Formats: sequence, C-alpha cells, structure tokens
Amino acid sequence: MVKDVPTTIEIDIQKIVSSRLASVDFNHIPFGTVYSDHMFVADYYDGQWQDLRIVPFQNMSVSPASSVLHYGQSVFEGMKAFRNSKTGKINLFRPDQNQKRINESAKRICIPEVPEEIFLEGLKQLIAIDREWVPKSEASALYIRPFIFAHEDFLGVRPAKCYRFMIFTCPVGAYYSEPVKVKIEKHFTRAATGGTGYAKAAGNYAGSLYPAKKAQEEGYHQLIWTDHKNHELIEESGTMNVMFVINNTLRTAPVSDTILDGITRKSVLQVAREWGINVEEKAVSVSELIQAIENGTLKEAFGVGTAATISHIISIGNDGNNYELPPIEKRELSHKLSKELSGLMRGHIPDTRNWIVSL
Ligand code: COI
Repeated sequence: MVKDVPTTIEIDIQKIVSSRLASVDFNHIPFGTVYSDHMFVADYYDGQWQDLRIVPFQNMSVSPASSVLHYGQSVFEGMKAFRNSKTGKINLFRPDQNQKRINESAKRICIPEVPEEIFLEGLKQLIAIDREWVPKSEASALYIRPFIFAHEDFLGVRPAKCYRFMIFTCPVGAYYSEPVKVKIEKHFTRAATGGTGYAKAAGNYAGSLYPAKKAQEEGYHQLIWTDHKNHELIEESGTMNVMFVINNTLRTAPVSDTILDGITRKSVLQVAREWGINVEEKAVSVSELIQAIENGTLKEAFGVGTAATISHIISIGNDGNNYELPPIEKRELSHKLSKELSGLMRGHIPDTRNWIVSL
C-alpha cells in the first residue's frame, strides 16, 4: 500500500480566485456534469514528464491537428474519494491499483508511463485542495478522472512525441438509479484476443456506443458482451465486470486480454474468498446462464465497477426472450458485498487490508 509518498516532486499551484462550490446543488448532480474547482496537469515532451501544476479547472486549447483527435491515443482511469463521516477525513480506495493500471493501459497504446510519484502526489494534492468538493451524503462520492492523451500536432500515423496527463474530479451520486436490464450481445464485439479490451483505452468505449445505443432503443440499459469468436462466453456488462451467483458459487470471467482487470472486481473476489464463499474465475456460457435462470439456480447477477460499485441486474434479454431474475430484496451476497465495500470506503469498517489511503 502506498500511504506515504515522499514529496520529491514539485507541483506549481495556482488556486481559483472564487470557488464555484456554493452554486452546486449536491442533491441533484447527474453523473459527470459538475467539475470541482481545480485540475492537475503534467506534460510530456523531450522524453520526460514535466511542468507539473494544479490550476483552476478550465478549457484548454488543442490544435485541430492534435493526434489524439485523429488516432485516439488516449487512456483513462476511474476512481472515487469518500468522506469518512466520523473523522471528516477523505478516503481514497486502492489508488495504487489505478496508478498501475493506467500504465498497463498506456503501454498498450504506446503512451509513456506516468511515474508513480507524479500520479499519486498529483492526485493527493488535488484532492486535498478540493476536499470540500467531496460530498457529505453517504450516497455520493467524488469521482476522479485521471487520463493521458497524445498532445502533438502531427498527422502521420505513429506514436506521438508529446502527451498530457490530467486529473479532474466531479461530485457524483449513483451511476445507475435503478437495477439494470441488460441484453446479451451476439453480433457486435467489444474486445478480441490480441486487442485492447483489457486496457481503459478511449477507443474501446467509442466502439461500444453503437451496440449499446441499439440495445437502449430496445428498452435495455446496457449489454452483456460475449466472446468475439462464438458469442457464447460472457465477458463483461456495459462498462463493468459482471458476476453471477449460481447455486452457491460466485462466478466471473477470468482476466485476460479481453477483460478489464477491474479493481472493484478483484476487491469483491478477495472479500468473498475471505468469507469462505466458493469463487470461480471461469466464464459463464450463455447456455449455462439461461439454464440456471430456468432451473432456479441463478440467485444473483450484478455488474461491478468504480462508477456503479455494485449494480444489480434485474432482467436479461437473449435471442428475443426476456428473462426476469430473482427479486433484488432476496439477494444476499451482492447486498453483503456492497455493504462491506461501502463501509470500507466510508470508514465505517476497519481497513484490515490496507486498501484505504486517508487524506
Ligand atoms: C468504471 O466504472 O470503472 C468506469 O470507468 C465507468 C466509466 C466509463 C463511467
């Protein structure tokens, strides 16, 4: 765990003259629409990350020839900060994992890695400056968006020579306001072997929009993605990893180059194993899932991710048939996991695993 990062790096800080905080209605913020006062910025040029700064959140100027706009060299992370209602401290959940993962994504897209101390110190100083933006309500959090993109004006197709790393934050409520209805996707593909599916690369999300939009037109919230070869093995759901409780076993697909190595995913699996739950990282096939729904052995289905934490799936569409899943109030494991994770994140449960960094 990274608790004490040495402050060996210099960050230039320019604070906002007048905060926008007082104008924000914290009870009504659609996800990702209101941004906190400041942002962290670092630029990569001449072969190194430099010019580290925290400045007021603002638009930036980008050349029409900027390579990210044409060839999509861009990766991002999603994280959250929570207010501990007892101590008033701000809790970050496993930030070291996001730091490692953004660099795994960066490597795949030919983006230079951001050193650990720049990521973690930039993040901590930014959150400390904007700590009043972390919502007080237990149902809300401060969503944190670190991202890196190519920032060179050049139209040739090659890795860019200049990049920008930024972090900005936004107070958010629930990502999904209700349990989700999902459709098993049998035609479009999110990720293929050898591709970029495991990375949080902007292009992965661009490619998912059209199939998701089609499903939304049919009344679903999101898709369940299946493997690209036979569309038979279940991989992810929307922007989340997906898990099922079949009989008494918690099942999810193993991480691979088509599956995001989700931090909520690995946390849920670790907690479940510690509780003695039978956990299998083995993809559920569509036919197995439908059979389990029909014979009543499917007890729970849910997506896990940073934005949504744990999001219950209430119905699943497959080949034109719609299957209703067990009522949410009858689900035991996902409720217990959700309580454990949010208790940890908000400081109600002791952090015995060293997952929390408090500021
Ligand atoms: C996450 O839940 O981890 C995400 O990154 C979701 C985001 C694409 C809104």
